[in-house]
Amino acid sequence: MVEDRSGATRELLLLSGPNLDQLGVRDVSVYGSTTLEEHVERVRIAAQRFALSVRHVQSNFEGDLIEAVHGARGRSAAIVINAGALSHTSWALTDALAIFPGVKVEVHLSNPAAREPFRHVSTLAGVVNGTIAGFGALSYDLALVAVAELLET
Ligand code: DQA
Repeated sequence: MVEDRSGATRELLLLSGPNLDQLGVRDVSVYGSTTLEEHVERVRIAAQRFALSVRHVQSNFEGDLIEAVHGARGRSAAIVINAGALSHTSWALTDALAIFPGVKVEVHLSNPAAREPFRHVSTLAGVVNGTIAGFGALSYDLALVAVAELLET
């Protein structure tokens, strides 16, 4: 598990699931050549505009992600999650997100609906405020705008 953090006013937990640590080398034609670290840095910079600090957790293990969601309760105002392939399979992660009372936005770099059938279903979709997919790095920027807006309401 990789975890990093910076000082907080309102904290945004950015969660990255399995294989996202391989961005930059993995399926570049689908996901682009930007590394996860570069995406996270971009989110961090954009988040400053909304007075949000970013704590990023990446793991290839479902249980780590579930525990990160549990740990966010009472600590983070919002969760932005790209759960990778767990988005399509993990009822356990879905249940964990359902418990988190704050703002939750699901993100995908690619557009899963335009890809293989197994990617067409998201188990997470029903427990998050909304999903942003298909815009590459811009998906994260749009998720931040959505989080900021939802935190205001
Ligand atoms: C992804 C889409 C998923 O289907 C895939 O398993 C990923 C990345 C995306 O960001 O486009 O790992 O979540």
